[in-house]
Amino acid sequence: MTAVGIDAVEVWTGNLKLDLAETFAPEKGDDPEKYTKGLGLRASSFPDSYEDIVTMGANASKELMDRKGLTPDDIGRIDVATESSFDNSKPISTYIAGCLEQVYDGDFHHANKGERKFACIAGTQSVDDAYNWIRAGRNRGRSAIVVATDTALYARGDAGEATQGAGAVALLISEDPDLVELSTHQGYGSADETDFLKPNQQFPSVDGKRSVQVYLARMREALEDYESVAGDVHIDDFVYAPFHTPFPGMVRKAAALAYRHVTRDTGVEEELAEGIGRQPRRESFDDDGQYEEAVREYMDALKETEQYRDWYAGTVDPTLSIARDVGNWYTASVHLARISALKTALETGRDVAGESMLVASYGSGAQAEIHGETVQDGWEEEIAALDIDEQVADRYDLSWAEYEQVHDRHNHETDSELEEFTAPEAEFVFDGWGRMGERK
Ligand code: CAA
Repeated sequence: MTAVGIDAVEVWTGNLKLDLAETFAPEKGDDPEKYTKGLGLRASSFPDSYEDIVTMGANASKELMDRKGLTPDDIGRIDVATESSFDNSKPISTYIAGCLEQVYDGDFHHANKGERKFACIAGTQSVDDAYNWIRAGRNRGRSAIVVATDTALYARGDAGEATQGAGAVALLISEDPDLVELSTHQGYGSADETDFLKPNQQFPSVDGKRSVQVYLARMREALEDYESVAGDVHIDDFVYAPFHTPFPGMVRKAAALAYRHVTRDTGVEEELAEGIGRQPRRESFDDDGQYEEAVREYMDALKETEQYRDWYAGTVDPTLSIARDVGNWYTASVHLARISALKTALETGRDVAGESMLVASYGSGAQAEIHGETVQDGWEEEIAALDIDEQVADRYDLSWAEYEQVHDRHNHETDSELEEFTAPEAEFVFDGWGRMGERK
């Protein structure tokens, strides 16, 4: 069977930055370490006044097409995953295709376009759709572009405000991929849960504490379902475990949960039980918070063991390096986590070709998916081509007053002209309704 998977990726961050320790914490009267250590975040990315989900997605896609030498005729499908859509009728992919058609010969009239909505997991679902389209032989030799693009903003004063972010990841899904081959093994945990509600409003209504509980519950279910098709997972089976990352502190908890599965026949639990004087609690998920408490207790005990610290440092921590500086990108978040891991491998000279990754995606309480991937021989060249470090370093650092202005603007709370903090450089810009996507 020909390999199908992710051939290449490109990233586009919002051009502004909100520093959590220097700017956010003092304004809130909080200890900066609540954010840098507790949540594990240094900064958030924000869209400048000329950026939105279309421009960020189109800019990432343009970089992808240019780098891979693609023309519109090479692409048979464009899917956008977002939970920040502004159009309940046609998909955001049509706007992105419209932008791209301004700069390439040819058009995307032959391409099937769609939009996926299922909170943050929609990015992975779109990748799955593209995979299935190719596997079904309906692609006529063409590749698919999947764009995960979001402005993940919360109301001011909401507990989630510290975890905001904005950016896009564009992924090329093809036969014989250069980056990772997707496995047919997937596991799901899915439930009708409403911790995160966005009924026709710009910012979500979130039950933050509950969302942490249900994240863990869905991940556990998905892991168990994954094991029912792929067989038991063991600690040495995968080199990295990229998780959906609303903030790194959430992944620390999920990693402890995953570790319990992957070490169950290694004697670690017995050692832990000895350390804390009893078996770590294993309550099932329930509403009163015991499940998170149990995981937290387990995690605290784990931190004392060298084996866990080594595993976490090698397998999970490398997936968090970009998220720490850009915050939550919703649909793009797990795809950034994959990039972070492979970027760390490149920087530390680790050859991971042929190694497996366990990828954990998540959609706001209601679904988690765990699947396997195998790193391909071309991974180093693909990851070396990314300029995410430069993009992150080049962001404009907002003062608190500027942040409030930008935030209001993105909540459509002001009609007044807002200055642009950065100067667009050869990129698609939002220039008012009907003039979207002109390239400056
Ligand atoms: N030094 C070090 N650590 C500190 C500290 C300090 N001075 N002060 C606090 N902390 C720690 C806390 O102990 C806590 O860590 P643990 O959970 O490991 O104990 C951490 O910092 C956060 O502190 P709080 O729990 O007090 O923070 P909070 O209540 O203000 O907000 C939150 C936390 C509820 C998760 C909030 O960020 C939120 O609502 N976020 C949005 C929802 C979210 O992202 N949920 C995640 C799952 S849902 C999902 O994944 C979908 C999605 O993308 C949104």
